[in-house]
Amino acid sequence: MITIKTSKEIKLMRETCALAAETLKLISSQVRVGISTDEINTIAHNYIIKTGAIPAPLNYHGFPKSICTSRNSVICHGIPKSDEFLREGDIINLDVTTKLNNYHGDTSATFFVGDKEKFDPKIIKLVEVTYESLFLGIKEVKPGARFGNIGAVIEEFAHSYGFSVVHEYCGHGIGKEFHEEPQVLHYGKRNSGAEMKPGMIFTIEPMINLGARHCKLLSDGWTVVTTDGKLSAQFEHTILVTEAGYEILTLFS
Ligand code: MF3
Ligand code: CO
Ligand code: CO
Repeated sequence: MITIKTSKEIKLMRETCALAAETLKLISSQVRVGISTDEINTIAHNYIIKTGAIPAPLNYHGFPKSICTSRNSVICHGIPKSDEFLREGDIINLDVTTKLNNYHGDTSATFFVGDKEKFDPKIIKLVEVTYESLFLGIKEVKPGARFGNIGAVIEEFAHSYGFSVVHEYCGHGIGKEFHEEPQVLHYGKRNSGAEMKPGMIFTIEPMINLGARHCKLLSDGWTVVTTDGKLSAQFEHTILVTEAGYEILTLFS
């Protein structure tokens, strides 16, 4: 069942999502050559805790850290490590999920490490196309539209640049639970899937690969990587369906 949030719940979702967005903004300013992914994790952890919220990934099905840090060929769910240092030319996705007053807010973005001008134009294109694909998906959100429309536009856009879309991981309903119904696929057919209704809240979080779409899980049980070792980018927002269309709850000031 896809829950419809009450106006009281929507208010709480706005608050937790604003905190997630502010946390992502804070740690994005720490992305630099030489910092470890665990140092970024610690900064996010301390900021979230200070506000009285909880970093939702910590201990979630046994996840050992407070945020996900997914570098280069890591598609998602990368575990921050004290011996993993950011290097010039890396791309890194930082994924923040907060739990505030029992409601979850979820957002992520991919950043360039070092001088963006020095990146291979194909890598810049991958990150920009992934970002734009998220917003093309968001623009499909309105009452009466079907969830398949989101995946259809994202897939078509990514393919038009020769990139591929990860199938095994998807967006999700969100609220009292970190992951609720529905599954929001980033590929598929227009006019398929459930109908969007005002008060639904879910994430859109396309993972777009430079090479093949296929992935594998590393033996740590969390880290998802591309099978061909090529780069993967991701952006994520939490979205509310409104009478008029949508509201992006995780935009930052
Ligand atoms: N934030 C991720 C998402 O967008 C989920 C991370 S689950 C974790 O759904 F356990 F790996 F943190
Ligand atoms: Co999510
Ligand atoms: Co997330």
